[in-house]
Amino acid sequence: MLAEIFFTMQQQLATIVSETATAAPGIKTRPEFEVFKARVSGANGSLTAVMKSIGKLPKEEKPAAGKLVNEAKQKIEAVFAETLARIEAAELAAKLGEPIDPTLPSPDDFAGMRHPLSQIRDEVCGIFHKLGFTVAEGPELETEWYCFDALNTPANHPARDMQDTLFMPAETKAADAPKHADEAYLLRSHTSSVQIRTMLAGKPPIRIIAPGRCFRRDTVDATHSANFHQIEGLWIDKNVTLKDLKSVLDTFVREVFGNSAETRLRPSFFPFTEPSFEMDIRVPNMGALSNRWLEIMGCGLVDPKVLENVGIDSAQWSGLAFGMGIERIAMLVHGIDDIRHFYANDLRFLRQFA
Ligand code: PHE
Repeated sequence: MLAEIFFTMQQQLATIVSETATAAPGIKTRPEFEVFKARVSGANGSLTAVMKSIGKLPKEEKPAAGKLVNEAKQKIEAVFAETLARIEAAELAAKLGEPIDPTLPSPDDFAGMRHPLSQIRDEVCGIFHKLGFTVAEGPELETEWYCFDALNTPANHPARDMQDTLFMPAETKAADAPKHADEAYLLRSHTSSVQIRTMLAGKPPIRIIAPGRCFRRDTVDATHSANFHQIEGLWIDKNVTLKDLKSVLDTFVREVFGNSAETRLRPSFFPFTEPSFEMDIRVPNMGALSNRWLEIMGCGLVDPKVLENVGIDSAQWSGLAFGMGIERIAMLVHGIDDIRHFYANDLRFLRQFA
């Protein structure tokens, strides 16, 4: 009778071990594994039930039964361990994804590039560098005096209108742009303020080029942006004349637009130059813009009043100045018809200039 119970127990254990081993390969996930394990060794598990039944055996048979149960338990635990290791390996593989070969070239090997406006700025600065101009810079937050008064721009000039310039609130303070008198702060509407700063900082001869960001109260459309870039040029020396202006700017135009580009100086007005001109170019090979006069910059001889405003003797020194929009040059060079492309950060546009 007792031997029979013992025999039955042996049978039960063999069944539990073999069923566990057979079912194990079908267990794929951690929740499935937990259920699978509980069914055998949980509180109501099949192995637990057999272990509990040892208590009913006579004392002398308990050691042998205990040994049987332990053997079965070890086999089952080995199956559990192996199953769990397999699930963990699968989880890790899923997390790592497809195997990759790090020695292969990257599918996205684009190294980045300079913005087309930076490219044009550097090209223009490079051309003037060859003509002896060095780069000067000034603050974007400027005072009314540097931007207008010192440049001989009267108080009733339209550029000083609230509609045209972005004035700052009265309480604005700016450490890098100390006020000259009690004038207002504004976002500079042109780079010509750098002319004044340069002439105050050093004595002539002066030959500078000043690239930088400018701001106007413009409504954004295909040809206007409230935020744009200019390059200013200033050359102060003895006997600087219109011939120098024409030859410097002609050299620049031919470098950028080719030797077949023609130029003309068309009379214009700026408060800080006298005489003043717009320079136009006409190029035979510029797509839809071929063979048409196109305005590219303002220029002129520095008005003697400006020289006096900064303490330079206008009887001894004369000068030329010019200012052009970087966007305008870039649009002509590349045949771009909408200024907004420059600021949209669309890689399909930008990568054409890589
Ligand atoms: N500052 C002028 C503008 O913004 C351009 C210019 C610069 C004209 C220097 C003459 C001399 O339109």
